[in-house]
Amino acid sequence: MIQLKENLFWVGVKDWELEKFHGDEYTTKNGSTYNSYLIKGSDKTALVDTCWGPYKEQYLAHLENTIGLQNIDCLICQHTETDHSGAISALLEKAPDLPIFCTAKAKQFLESQFHGSWDSCITVKTGDKLDLGGYELLFIEAPMLHWPDSMMTYVSGMGTLLSNDAFGQHYVTSGFYNDEADQCLLWQEAIKYYANIVSPYAKIVKPKIDQFAGLGEPLDMICPSHGVIWRDEPMQIIHKYLEWSAAYKEDQIVIIYDTMWLETKAMAEALGRGVAQTGMTVKLINAAKSDMTHMLTEAFRSAGILVGSPTVNNGISHAMAGIMEGLKHLKLTGKQGAAFGSYGWSGEGAGILQTRLEEAGVAIAGGPFKQVHMPNMEELEKLEAFGRQFAASLR
Ligand code: FEO
Repeated sequence: MIQLKENLFWVGVKDWELEKFHGDEYTTKNGSTYNSYLIKGSDKTALVDTCWGPYKEQYLAHLENTIGLQNIDCLICQHTETDHSGAISALLEKAPDLPIFCTAKAKQFLESQFHGSWDSCITVKTGDKLDLGGYELLFIEAPMLHWPDSMMTYVSGMGTLLSNDAFGQHYVTSGFYNDEADQCLLWQEAIKYYANIVSPYAKIVKPKIDQFAGLGEPLDMICPSHGVIWRDEPMQIIHKYLEWSAAYKEDQIVIIYDTMWLETKAMAEALGRGVAQTGMTVKLINAAKSDMTHMLTEAFRSAGILVGSPTVNNGISHAMAGIMEGLKHLKLTGKQGAAFGSYGWSGEGAGILQTRLEEAGVAIAGGPFKQVHMPNMEELEKLEAFGRQFAASLR
């Protein structure tokens, strides 16, 4: 049990081994944490969120050995995705009368994920309060940040927001706070988390932040459910979320491609040379050798997105099909792009990619660039010229 403030404790789990999250969808190269918090009021002690199922026994044993399960008066379930709710059933086996405060949608999701009776749920809405004695919990629904059941909890009297998934990072450190973390890794993981998990719901971010700001409550700590706690200038992550949710782009173009016989790779490299000649940052990523989370993060950060695939059996490569599906669901705005690809005879690949770019909301700036087999010097120079012109148009 780690004391964060007077009467506020971290009782979560650090997962140093985690390499993948959301099944195999999200790579976690720096592990993660399942943050769970304990708030001790003079009348009641509240536990906020639990942990992922595989850690439930060690999590509950730790609670038993520190606070004692009989001393927990209620559970606040801010979100039922199993990385936070995976220990609830086991907790209820030991404390069957424990009331659970959650949204109406969360109660439904507990029923559909874990079955059985969830009559101990007390459903709450934005503005509802729970007095712990000396501290008051103020519940703030946050539907689609990032599930319909999500909510946050503001602890009046502590100046602390328990934000659940929002403002999190899949990042485990030996410490607990943002000012103790490697700043480079912290921000890398924070933007990756935003791009892959929050970006599809970007439209909701500013109104939710405005709603919280409208409460006029002091804020000196943000406790997310993953990664480090924002105690040093907590507003910095809120400002970043506002920036990231407003058609964010850096002075960068990403070129994501796949290649069979190095022909589409040659096209990608020619386009990249052209971009680099303008001084703009360019990143080339072979989709078959990279991972989706990284590629989507780079697409999120980029002003321009160029995608290439050879034609494979009248279609595109499976690696490119995967990234285009992921890109579509990020619902990015303000991006421009183009498609390219080599072929031997039918040549559908580049056209299919262009359609997928359009479906992802990317404005088409040229192409599709179709290349019969290996580009010659003149054809490479044309691609290079497009790379230059495309980069210049984005500045
Ligand atoms: Fe960290 Fe949506 O669960």
